[in-house]
Amino acid sequence: MCGIVAYIGHRQAYPVIVKGLKRLEYRGYDSAGIALVNHGLKLYKKKGKVANLEESTLGQDLEGHIGIGHTRWATHGEPSDRNAHPHRSANGKLAMIHNGIIENYASLKQELIKKGYQFHSDTDTEVLLYFIEDIQKNNSSTLEEALRIALKRVVGAYVIVLIDEDNPDTLIAARKGSPLVIGIGKGEHFLASDASPIIEYTKEVVYVNDYEIAIIKADELILKNLGNERQTPFIQKLDLELAAIEKGGYDHFMLKEIFEQPHTIYDCLRGRLDAAQGTITMSGIQNNMELIKNANRILIIACGTSWHAGLVAEYVIEELCRIPVEVEYASEFRYRNPIIHKGDMIIAISQSGETADTLVAIERAKEQGAVILGIVNVVGSSISRISHAGAYTHAGPEIGVASTKAFTAQLTVLTMVALMIAKERNTISHDRYIHLLNELNEVPEKVKHALENADHIKAVALKYKDVSDALFLGRGYNFPIALEGALKLKEISYIHAEGYPAAEMKHGPIALVDESLPVVFVATKDTYHQKIISNIQEIKARKGKVIAVITEGDETITEMADDVLPIPEADELIAPIISTIPLQLLSYYIGVARGFDVDKPRNLAKSVTVE
Ligand code: M6R
Repeated sequence: MCGIVAYIGHRQAYPVIVKGLKRLEYRGYDSAGIALVNHGLKLYKKKGKVANLEESTLGQDLEGHIGIGHTRWATHGEPSDRNAHPHRSANGKLAMIHNGIIENYASLKQELIKKGYQFHSDTDTEVLLYFIEDIQKNNSSTLEEALRIALKRVVGAYVIVLIDEDNPDTLIAARKGSPLVIGIGKGEHFLASDASPIIEYTKEVVYVNDYEIAIIKADELILKNLGNERQTPFIQKLDLELAAIEKGGYDHFMLKEIFEQPHTIYDCLRGRLDAAQGTITMSGIQNNMELIKNANRILIIACGTSWHAGLVAEYVIEELCRIPVEVEYASEFRYRNPIIHKGDMIIAISQSGETADTLVAIERAKEQGAVILGIVNVVGSSISRISHAGAYTHAGPEIGVASTKAFTAQLTVLTMVALMIAKERNTISHDRYIHLLNELNEVPEKVKHALENADHIKAVALKYKDVSDALFLGRGYNFPIALEGALKLKEISYIHAEGYPAAEMKHGPIALVDESLPVVFVATKDTYHQKIISNIQEIKARKGKVIAVITEGDETITEMADDVLPIPEADELIAPIISTIPLQLLSYYIGVARGFDVDKPRNLAKSVTVE
């Protein structure tokens, strides 16, 4: 979704902003723009990639030590030069960038049209900018005062950053619901939607909170709330290296992130799981254990891949902890007046920690008194900050739009959480507990082993790259992995793919099966093995093509299937973390073979900050 970068300080702003916008490209966008102040306000905007914008500015005057830049993911109005940000105020003096949605923009626009304003774009952003300008004009107020008044009337989510040609030494920013990080340098400040454009300059950052306004000069940062009271900026140190956000020799971020998984899962376990001692240490969970272990019900809310992690957790928690679990799309939960009882515990799962639907769902649940555990990857993100407690997944920055390493880290953390609760509730035997700890400990090595089959998986991918549809089936713990496999394939190869519980196939999807339909089974050795073998036979009897993720050495399925993708043997409760690996690679190689930009699939955004 939209990316924001701004700079003020001793450097030239343009190159800092362009580089920053490129670092944010992974978020997904369709146009880009920059505004600079240097003897007047200059705007440069272009549909398409940041590289197009750069090309269009060749030979132009790009001097200036203050500027704002934006990558836009279209919401109000098509992707075009005129809808690209920054937008200019009617008097030409202000420029503004915006991430989020102004929900009451239509009524504000009508008010402004009646006052004679003429709009040059279809965006809600231009409406907000004119609204601020109008308040400033009518009240003869400062820009900061006008912004404060305007934001009290705005409904929606936003990060905005403004520059004013009459005050070329100040940036003004505000946030509600969308992320904003300020990097603090020596005599300079960097603003961005996340830390990736900032880390090569400084590791000291401030995360702006909702309803805060930041007034930023080269050597001064003032934070205020909407009541005009000064707030003390909380300066944090970024625990992030530049290498983590670069490709490091891989063709795509997605491939790099798939191959990082032995490390990311190890990092997720490190310092937490001690198999020799039989302990798992996660303070965010331990400190709230009384509440968690006595929960009458656990509600898991998430979107997309994180929702699939929640489904696996449902199976694992119910099995190990004997607590009822419900998993819900955050986008449905937030609107359907859910019933939350005292004693319910909410687990919110999110890679980015910024997904708008998940954020609002958490707020709704909190209003009803629920306690929220956040399972989040991005440190300092909004969800991590509004949750009561939780655990980070420590997968490092995930740049590829298709989630891979964040998913396996989510499964790892959720399994550890389930084991901690089960131990406290005495719903697991000591032997099983120790066995599962050892199994978890072995996951990084097993994932490494599964990745060694990449060449074979690539060959299988090339065989099926031209299909138009695919079905993914699994049972039990592997059912959500089938859903995730289907999501990965459709996201990056644009092949229509559906995931189902294998037994559900007979209730409809089997009608699709013929010799042209590949059916991907996640069929590792588990409680349901015999059942899924029957399901494979049912597909073969109808001439469907079967690709099966199997446990190494499974001769039965090897003989029946057209192609097999073996993984090392693992306990059925742990296997989903490993069985997802060949499906990630299969999608990756198919997407690449079809010639698509797998890191930035069409229409998708990494961080879905609008509902
Ligand atoms: O950052 P989140 O985990 O909250 O994001 C949720 C979904 O938007 C995300 O998982 C999406 O489905 C990915 N594109 C999956 O690859």
